[in-house]
Amino acid sequence: MPTAFVTGWPDITNSGKMTMEEAKKKFSGVQYVPINKPCLAVEDDKTRVKHKGNNLGDYDAMFPRISISYKDWGYNMCKILSQHDIYFPYSPQSVLWAHNKFSTMEVLKRHKLPVPQTYMAVNTSIARDIMKEVGFPLIVKLPQGAGGKGVMYIESEASAASLFDTLHTLEQPLFIEEFIENPGEDLRVFVIGNDAYGYKRVAKDGEKRANLHSGGKVEKYSLSEEEKELGFKAAEATNCDIAGVDLLHDPEGESYLIEVNISPGLNGITKATGKNIAKKIVDFTYDKVKK
Ligand SMILES: Nc1ncnc2c1ncn2[C@@H]1O[C@H](COP(=O)(O)OP(=O)(O)O)[C@@H](O)[C@H]1O
Ligand SMILES: [Mg+2]
Repeated sequence: MPTAFVTGWPDITNSGKMTMEEAKKKFSGVQYVPINKPCLAVEDDKTRVKHKGNNLGDYDAMFPRISISYKDWGYNMCKILSQHDIYFPYSPQSVLWAHNKFSTMEVLKRHKLPVPQTYMAVNTSIARDIMKEVGFPLIVKLPQGAGGKGVMYIESEASAASLFDTLHTLEQPLFIEEFIENPGEDLRVFVIGNDAYGYKRVAKDGEKRANLHSGGKVEKYSLSEEEKELGFKAAEATNCDIAGVDLLHDPEGESYLIEVNISPGLNGITKATGKNIAKKIVDFTYDKVKK
């Protein structure tokens, strides 16, 4: 039996538990390693990720859930592990891409994939010029937001003014996106290798963001071939074997990729599809490392 560990939030989440439970059926020595517990070591002739006397690079597989607050840490950990013979479902660079929305848009566009017009500026006077070019309404995002929390819908220049002043004081770069007209819905394409599973999120009344954390609801949804293909291409562009890719459709039916999530939650997708997605992730990983 190959060996594996699960890592993620300092306190294990429900998605982490679901992964652990399935991993134990196919891997040996499965344990949960909270992301903040190992030590990254550059010593002797090697770099290592050390945890309680073990070198985590000696495991056959890692099931990671690296949150935004551990972006740089997770990147360095993955960098070191990539020097060892251990499988995990993305590259170290994926951590940086996925946890900065502007970088995600840039890499997807570089692969000729459809994304909203996207701009970044470090000061408000430049941002004002950009806004005039993009037109209202528009979307302002914090590059490192998640769960809909850093996403703001701006209707007019007047409503942008105070927000821009605030962001300027906080020394936050401004990330501006074209608003994609949509019925308050977005699609999650959950990619696992050559398979994709989906669901739809519907925003609550009066809310532009469809996130579950913003009160959105999960609905069953059968992905079209085109939607699956966009999911596969977005995952490939960001070096991910497993990823939660989000997309929007405008009223003309055009698709826009808006996010690649490297730690997609398992609750929504499991509920919407009625499938054991944690098992599918474990089986996929097992196939990568079986001896
Ligand atoms: N450019 C856009 N146009 C219209 N709606 C958007 C746009 N970007 C995001 N949204 C809405 O806001 C939600 C959250 O945005 P997203 O970029 O996925 O951030 P988060 O990481 O916080 O989920 C999306 O699910 C979608 O409903
Ligand atoms: Mg999202």
